[in-house]
Amino acid sequence: MSTVETDRYAVTGNPVAHSQSPFIHAEFAAQTAQALSYERLLCPLDDYAATVRAFAAAGARGCNVTVPFKFEAHALAARLSPRARLSGAVNTLRFDAEGWFGDNTDGAGLVRDIERNAGLSLAAKRILLLGAGGASAGVLGSLIAARPAEIVLANRSVDKAQALIESHQAWAAQHGVRIAACGLADCGNGFDVMINGTSASLAGAGVPVGPQVLAQGALALDMMYGPAAAPFLDWARRHGAVARDGLGMLVEQAAEAFEVWRGVQPDTTPVLAALRERLASKSS
Ligand code: ATR
Repeated sequence: MSTVETDRYAVTGNPVAHSQSPFIHAEFAAQTAQALSYERLLCPLDDYAATVRAFAAAGARGCNVTVPFKFEAHALAARLSPRARLSGAVNTLRFDAEGWFGDNTDGAGLVRDIERNAGLSLAAKRILLLGAGGASAGVLGSLIAARPAEIVLANRSVDKAQALIESHQAWAAQHGVRIAACGLADCGNGFDVMINGTSASLAGAGVPVGPQVLAQGALALDMMYGPAAAPFLDWARRHGAVARDGLGMLVEQAAEAFEVWRGVQPDTTPVLAALRERLASKSS
């Protein structure tokens, strides 16, 4: 009797209990008729590498990587995509026999959500990116590749913003994009697109810049979703911006990871709609 092999994947992180990735990948798998399973793998903070190696040794094919392990996953990859190398972080591992392949699909997911789902081309726009931690590092390279006129990276600790700008300077020059670092108090005004990559709301702090940063009708996007994004989205709407949470980015980065693993591109539109419905019914 033959048995059908099901390829295993997981989201690895700490915490992972509330991750929506298993739902998203189950929808993609059903839609594209791919035989796979996708689980949550909680990894001890001090034992990421051993946990992921054991998962791979048990026959799994790959994993997504979430907070706080994206830098450790980068170190575990034997081969890196150019975008993962540039960001210094990995959110997707594929356990290839010839050496693990590491990619970072966060930036492509963000850009696709803005350009395709929100319908706003980033070309020639002025972008303000708040924060210089892992979230911003993961997306800066892809934002540059979308060829806006300018990206200003504003952070509470200016030295961290400067370091991130320096590591992307050659890439920006190649694409003809001006990039600059600054503090939160002096980041300028009238941006077409503002992206929040800080964890300020998790710390209970408000939006760390004034509303003058928004051009009329600007798009203001928080990379978080659910209650964590609410204060930023409320602020954005109060000041006349188009507010967008990080759910679209979440689904788009997952689709890109799915393609890295399976070689097929799922249709994200129905999955994003289903996810919004699922979260709305949970919170009501
Ligand atoms: P992540 O991986 O989610 O990006 P991180 O690497 O800890 O997390 O980065 C968090 C980001 O949020 C940083 O840019 C941090 O600013 P600092 O580099 O100055 O620490 C920013 N951040 C966190 N709390 C903040 C607050 N209350 N006000 C402004 N920025 C804040």
